[in-house]
Amino acid sequence: MIKAYQASCQARVDAALEPLFQPPRAELQRLYEAMRYSVMNGGKRVRPLLVYAACEALDGNLDRADGAACAVELIHAYSLVHDDLPAMDDDDLRRGQPTTHKAFDEASAILAGDGLQSLAFEVLADRRRNPQDAEVRLQMIDALSSAAGPAGMVGGQAIDLGSVGQQLDQAELETMHRHKTGALIEASVLLGALASGNADELSLKALLQYARAVGLAFQVQDDILDVESDTATLGKTQGKDEANDKPTYPALLGLDAAKDYALELRDQALHVLRPFGSQAEPLRELARYIVERRS
Ligand code: IPE
Ligand code: IPE
Ligand code: MG
Ligand code: MG
Ligand code: MG
Repeated sequence: MIKAYQASCQARVDAALEPLFQPPRAELQRLYEAMRYSVMNGGKRVRPLLVYAACEALDGNLDRADGAACAVELIHAYSLVHDDLPAMDDDDLRRGQPTTHKAFDEASAILAGDGLQSLAFEVLADRRRNPQDAEVRLQMIDALSSAAGPAGMVGGQAIDLGSVGQQLDQAELETMHRHKTGALIEASVLLGALASGNADELSLKALLQYARAVGLAFQVQDDILDVESDTATLGKTQGKDEANDKPTYPALLGLDAAKDYALELRDQALHVLRPFGSQAEPLRELARYIVERRS
């Protein structure tokens, strides 16, 4: 079921993303090419999937969730382009292809990331593919900007870089993961819920608890895969965390305990969805997928 759901959501968000990369003038062709290269390169689209699944859980119309689905993927793609730069993780491979700074050059990769970030908010402000109520769109822009910014993902990346070679305890590691990866995943669920137009306080509270659990589980599993998967399956260099001396869950707890923790977080996510009916099935499937995925 998750495969079919994933394929239909991937096709949906890819169709909405593709037109964004038409250069408005000839001089900008290379910049737009670098942006397109960084996005239209076969990512799993987990964050857009969470947007659509949260919108569906609240009986929303997916036509109003396309803006949010694009926006979270644009922010995510920008974060990956910058994460891979020599000054950060210094990676050559992303989604099975050369990283943007390898395929283009460093300056182009920096600008492509900057461009993708601004484009995300342009798309989220657009009344044609988001809720028409301007107040709701403002709430969505507020949610995404704080999740992406210094108190969210960017802050997490700063903690990550500051932690190289350090011994973090479990609480510190959790803080880092919740910021660098959890924040954007939480925002994806929140944006999907807001896009539905049916988000009451009680369901929002449950969905946020769900998102908190899967957001952390996602990075725990990313750390696990970095240890036990292989470069071809991952589409990025295996063993990079150890090579870069990064604190990770497997390094702190051991591989088995890290796996148990990921499963515990999945169970927490499933537990809070109990009051929801079958329309939350895609969210349940995603919680399972996030800890079972091999790439
Ligand atoms: C990788 O994210 C980076 C993290 C935040 C852990 P994904 O595993 O979602 O990467 P893509 O989008 O599928 O390439
Ligand atoms: C990435 O964490 C978090 C981001 C905000 C991009 P990682 O550095 O572990 O992601 P990968 O493993 O390179 O995809
Ligand atoms: Mg990193
Ligand atoms: Mg990295
Ligand atoms: Mg990683």
